[in-house]
Amino acid sequence: MAGPRARLHLGSERSVTQNRPRPVRAASATAGAERLGSAVVGLAPPRISWFAPVFSGGGGARLVLVRHTNENHPSAVVQLNDVRRTYGGKRTSVAALDGVTAGFGRASFTAVMGPSGSGKSTFLHCAAGLDRPTGGSVLIEGQDLGELSEVELTRLRRERVGFVFQAFNLLPALTVQDNVTLPLRLAGRRPKPALVRQVLDQVGLGERRKHLPAELSGGQQQRVAIARALVTRPAVLFADEPTGALDTHTARDVLGLLRGSVDHAGQTVVMVTHDPVAASYADRVVFLADGRLVGELPNPTAEAVAERMTHLGAWAERTATGVY
Ligand SMILES: Nc1ncnc2c1ncn2[C@@H]1O[C@H](COP(=O)(O)OP(=O)(O)OP(=O)(O)O)[C@@H](O)[C@H]1O
Ligand SMILES: [Mg+2]
Repeated sequence: MAGPRARLHLGSERSVTQNRPRPVRAASATAGAERLGSAVVGLAPPRISWFAPVFSGGGGARLVLVRHTNENHPSAVVQLNDVRRTYGGKRTSVAALDGVTAGFGRASFTAVMGPSGSGKSTFLHCAAGLDRPTGGSVLIEGQDLGELSEVELTRLRRERVGFVFQAFNLLPALTVQDNVTLPLRLAGRRPKPALVRQVLDQVGLGERRKHLPAELSGGQQQRVAIARALVTRPAVLFADEPTGALDTHTARDVLGLLRGSVDHAGQTVVMVTHDPVAASYADRVVFLADGRLVGELPNPTAEAVAERMTHLGAWAERTATGVY
């Protein structure tokens, strides 16, 4: 096991051990976001290697400058432009998303955070084509989802999008292997044994492929769900609180797996979480409040995220009550 390494991060500069595209940023912060600004020093989380659950590095010092921007970059794998999602009728209308613009570059890992009810799940569902926005546009690899019929959208979701839920959502009567290969079979593709073996090995479950979900721990079940989401080699993997039902140790395993898929397989990952430690595995955190993007934190540390969430909770409360 490697010892702790000191790594200095300045603003959006990447660690020299990482080779990811640096996002282009277009400043457009809200007044609320401006109020949340601060500079923070914290510790980086340990990383887990992609092919085996072994810690490959310890925590290192990071200097993180906090910025607040919306992103819009043309080469994004996923791009949301002024996305709105309103529920209910005229009198009971709720703006779950109120004009969100954000881009997610290839091989990037983004955490989405915000108070309960701030629109995180709605954001993820709209970005993944599971829900249709009532305004604005969502593009995946340049394809505007709003231009697709239901059949075309279903096909795009099946082939280009992976989704991992908090509750795993495995089929209990199917073995690990059959759960993992289900998306391929639904798409009429015959799963290649070598690919299935590779994906199961990647999540450390090669030996468990004949087991049923009920014979696995929670963390193992979530790893099966991740393998199932990755088996089609999707453009983007969305995860809605993937560690919400797991203990701390198992959660680290799953987060290391997601991190590894970004670092070693160039996967794009967008993950909703309430947990600052989980968010610290990401390259950046975007913060939602009242359906709006109100800030972002590049190279997040758990401490910096926790601090921002505290401010955000207080700010959201003040906004809701009108008491400043
Ligand atoms: N189907 C729906 N019908 C009506 N309102 C909805 C629906 N889904 C979500 N909402 C409302 O939209 C807002 C955002 O909900 P969303 O589930 O996206 O929040 P969230 O940030 O994921 O919350 P949590 O952290 O509790 O999961 C909330 O006010 C919620 O009540
Ligand atoms: Mg939610």
